[in-house]
Amino acid sequence: METQLLQIAEEFGSPVYVYNSEKIIHQYNRLTEAFNSVENLKLNYAVKALSNISVLKLFKTLGSGLDTVSIQEVQLGLRAGFEPQDIIYTPNGVSLEEIETVASLGVQINIDNLSILEQFGSKHPNTPVCIRINPHVMAGGNTNISVGHIDSKFGISIHQIPLLLRIVENTGMTVNGVHMHTGSDILDIEVFLYASEILFETAKNFKNLEFIDFGSGFKVPYKPGDVETNIEELGTKLSKRFNDFCSDYGRDLTLSFEPGKFLVSESGVFLTKVNVVKQTTSTVFAQVDSGFNHLIRPMLYGSQHEIINLSNPEGKERFYSVVGYICETDTFANNRRITEIKEGDILCFKNAGAYCFTMASNYNSRYRPAEVLFHKGKAHLIRKSETFKDILNNQIEITI
Ligand SMILES: Cc1ncc(COP(=O)(O)O)c(C=O)c1O
Repeated sequence: METQLLQIAEEFGSPVYVYNSEKIIHQYNRLTEAFNSVENLKLNYAVKALSNISVLKLFKTLGSGLDTVSIQEVQLGLRAGFEPQDIIYTPNGVSLEEIETVASLGVQINIDNLSILEQFGSKHPNTPVCIRINPHVMAGGNTNISVGHIDSKFGISIHQIPLLLRIVENTGMTVNGVHMHTGSDILDIEVFLYASEILFETAKNFKNLEFIDFGSGFKVPYKPGDVETNIEELGTKLSKRFNDFCSDYGRDLTLSFEPGKFLVSESGVFLTKVNVVKQTTSTVFAQVDSGFNHLIRPMLYGSQHEIINLSNPEGKERFYSVVGYICETDTFANNRRITEIKEGDILCFKNAGAYCFTMASNYNSRYRPAEVLFHKGKAHLIRKSETFKDILNNQIEITI
């Protein structure tokens, strides 16, 4: 694969994101297998993780649905060929108008606050909605990605269920699903199981449920030997509990998940070229032709991306700080052991499939990079690198 990646960097230029469809398919099948004792399982891929339309089309061929958070993600999904009923829309803090527009497209709405619930229910009592609860569970790899705790802005507090039920009764609306998402990078399956019990408790309040959505947050490994969520064990335990719940409820419901990271993180790498090797009195910096404008996760929440020198994989290891070209502190990795780096070498950042390109920007007026999908033995360009035209696009030059 190293040689192929070097060829891709040569052919499509650097920096470039590369995704491997085989890994995506493998992860999708792994999750499906883990829950194969559940009669109705629905995986709704979280578009925000990696939203390239060709990747969405790949998920369509797998039978996946989509989890979306904006009307634009919904539009991308429809454009990729998804049926509206295979899309769930879980916004946070968006306008009633946007929610109404998405509902009018036939997409499943998931509401996470009482104010919008009341307004939406009063105007559209015949549109079934899902309710996102906040189970008040602290979970996630970092405070920025822990979203189910008591101080979080997400979901309707479980302590407000009586109020919620009053709104549902007064408006005559139907609740067809209950949902939670407690955070990302959750390692301990006991946390999922504990939060699931809260969701089951909530679910008992609604008589017309069609599905229970357990969100996502599965942790993936970031380096060889790293820990990950034990999906297989979670599958065995949660499936049993879910099937028991359905027996008590009196009906087979659909068990939904909306994974992003689990499905695409490991499928992606980010290739950059070393512009400068800078020896200072304390550190050796490898400065690449990119920065947090292209991959912000290390600066945003301290995420780890393993870095490999593709141009010298067998070389002697030395310590490097890998940094970008942005005009602020722009560190990808501090004092990492990497095989000897020379200017012009191609570095490969791993786990670059999720929340990498989708968080890229034009900061410093740089172009966002190309994306390539390695699919059925061939590298397909699925997004061109931007050009100066894109930087000026939508800008209006007035006479000053
Ligand atoms: C509501 C919701 N669902 C699903 C996801 C996907 O989570 P992950 O990438 O950890 O699988 C997120 C991530 O932020 C989310 O906010």
